[in-house]
Amino acid sequence: MNYLEVDDLSATELIDVLDRAGETKLEPVLSGKGVALVFEKPSARTRNSMEMAVVQLGGHPVTIRPDEIGLGRRERVEDLARMFGCYHAALGARVFDHDELELMASASPIPVINMLSDAAHPLQALADLLTIRQVFGQLGGLTVAYVGDGNNVCRSLCIAAGMAGMRVRVACPRGYELSQEDEERVSRACTPTLTSDPRVAVSGADVVYTDAWFSMGQESQAEARRPLFAPFQVDDQLMAAAGPDAIFLHCLPAHRDEEVTDSVLDGPQSRVWQQAENRMHASRGLLSWLMEH
Ligand code: CP
Ligand code: NVA
Repeated sequence: MNYLEVDDLSATELIDVLDRAGETKLEPVLSGKGVALVFEKPSARTRNSMEMAVVQLGGHPVTIRPDEIGLGRRERVEDLARMFGCYHAALGARVFDHDELELMASASPIPVINMLSDAAHPLQALADLLTIRQVFGQLGGLTVAYVGDGNNVCRSLCIAAGMAGMRVRVACPRGYELSQEDEERVSRACTPTLTSDPRVAVSGADVVYTDAWFSMGQESQAEARRPLFAPFQVDDQLMAAAGPDAIFLHCLPAHRDEEVTDSVLDGPQSRVWQQAENRMHASRGLLSWLMEH
């Protein structure tokens, strides 16, 4: 069983993973075992939360940079995945190209976990749901509004929220919406409201969510994107359109005064630090579940 996108789990399994994430006393299912964590891109939260989740389950994380192993150059990714299976109980990978994860999964004797690709960020989506459930005590019937780039975080959030029975709205600048392929994938979980007006998306929403205007690897597009994304900044006025009981979430890292203002990120509606902590609990819940299935 691999976890490359949230819908690799059924809706019931997703809730099971979230329930486990809320438990602090889990069986040490990784006792005496290793977990390989390969990062093609920088990471603060994912590396630390995954390493600590492995430790909390009794295991030993081995974090690996691509230049150490010559990912895809010194050796095919499929061969590396087979090799990791000789030593480890699971393989996590953060890659540019989602197809690399599919190649790893095709050859790996151990579960492969997507730690972020160009297409998806399913570990993040687990922490997002966990945070929303902690705040509101439920998921079904709530409305999440994603504002910004139709990217990896947006896709996994939409799928996760839809699977959990939430209503989903997405507001992106024209030309930066979810791809056709992503929309099709999301449509298996829910029928999101798609708009280019952030106020329409957030009106009366329970959760307002945003992410970077340009993702890792898209830095050269920054100047071209900034003016198009400026009307999508989450500021106090946009949060007011959602209402006083709405919460603000962001996968982080945040780019202050780009996609979000200081006043929202540091304000009373923000739950971003709780959300960041939940990355560790969610990863622990997922690893525990994977080791038993
Ligand atoms: N949210 C997230 O994945 O953060 P990192 O890129 O720091 O791991
Ligand atoms: N969309 C961002 C998320 C970072 C956690 C990226 O891919 O860089």
